[in-house]
Amino acid sequence: MKAVQFTRFGPAAEVAELVEVPDSGPPGAGEVVIEMLASPINPSEFLSFEGRFGAKAPQLPAFAGGEGVGRIVAVGKGVLHLKVGDRVLTQYAGRGSWRERILAKADGMFALPEEIGTLQLAMLAVNPATAWNMLNNFVALKPGEWVLQNAGTSSVGYNVIRMARYLGARSVSVVRRNDQVEPLLAKGADAVVVDGADLPARIAEAVDGAPIRLAFDAVAGTVTRHLGKAVAPGGSVVIYGILSGGRSEFDATDVLFRDVSIRGFWLTVWFRTTPHDQKQELYRRLAAMMTDRTIEIPIEATYPMREVKQALAHAARPHRTGKILLVMNN
Ligand SMILES: NC(=O)c1ccc[n+]([C@@H]2O[C@H](COP(=O)([O-])OP(=O)(O)OC[C@H]3O[C@@H](n4cnc5c(N)ncnc54)[C@H](OP(=O)(O)O)[C@@H]3O)[C@@H](O)[C@H]2O)c1
Repeated sequence: MKAVQFTRFGPAAEVAELVEVPDSGPPGAGEVVIEMLASPINPSEFLSFEGRFGAKAPQLPAFAGGEGVGRIVAVGKGVLHLKVGDRVLTQYAGRGSWRERILAKADGMFALPEEIGTLQLAMLAVNPATAWNMLNNFVALKPGEWVLQNAGTSSVGYNVIRMARYLGARSVSVVRRNDQVEPLLAKGADAVVVDGADLPARIAEAVDGAPIRLAFDAVAGTVTRHLGKAVAPGGSVVIYGILSGGRSEFDATDVLFRDVSIRGFWLTVWFRTTPHDQKQELYRRLAAMMTDRTIEIPIEATYPMREVKQALAHAARPHRTGKILLVMNN
């Protein structure tokens, strides 16, 4: 079967290789074989190819791909909660979703609702769960309260916008370009501010001076300092991405004299430490939000797995209008 593999660390489009590897074989007791359907190219894939995703670089050679959706094609002895034909999240099988078939333990997996399109489902495990956890696990938001985020045009950003509204809160999003403002407002953002000079003052103006207790930072770099200045005393800036490279700057006087906290969120830790029933409860809830279109992640293009290099080059472009996904097995 075909799989995307890398045998050295480096820029994604250089080190990603489509290779032929032995098939997964039949499932043992408690296992299933999943035929992959689709998987998004998330920014974490680029970090993974570079050996910078998480605290430890993966062992080489490594299969690429962090999440996705597939259909069960064989069920091992003792697996009673799943059947051939069910679609499942491959997050439960660990990294390596860019291959045609995966042999995995069935623990924790559950059948996804049939009414949701495969491409949306392929993006359920990571970004919606990240947005939901960040909105719910740091601050108890009050009705009408504002949350602040950068990378407003990202998939996490769209989820934050829709979920903030669903939770009765409001969102103010920072974007990089003027022409991103109107489309984001049309998608449900309550306020949008373009990054640049006097950012904290312009954020304050956008929310009419209301105190902001929670900000999400996907970018790091100098913007962490701006978010730290935009939040109210006692507020939190949650760093969850390193799109600008990895080093953040903040003003120690905000931490010292205004009690601003710099926190972190990594879904991998949540996934590892949360019991299966609680994860399932959240994923079922998020799937229901996809069914009624409370959340809907924009898609710009799909590519077959054999065009993985073109897909990676496309995913690396700035100012996309949506996600790039790989589709497998037609
Ligand atoms: N901590 C976690 O557990 C977790 C989970 C999920 C995602 N994430 C992180 O969340 C972030 C967004 O992921 P995603 O999948 O939602 O992204 P995405 O849909 O692929 O979109 C990429 C976003 O990044 C923005 N961007 C790229 N480089 C940037 C830079 N140097 N400065 C400012 N903005 C930049 C783009 O802005 P333009 O539209 O202007 O190009 C776009 O909004 C990533 O950092 C990802 O690793 C973290």
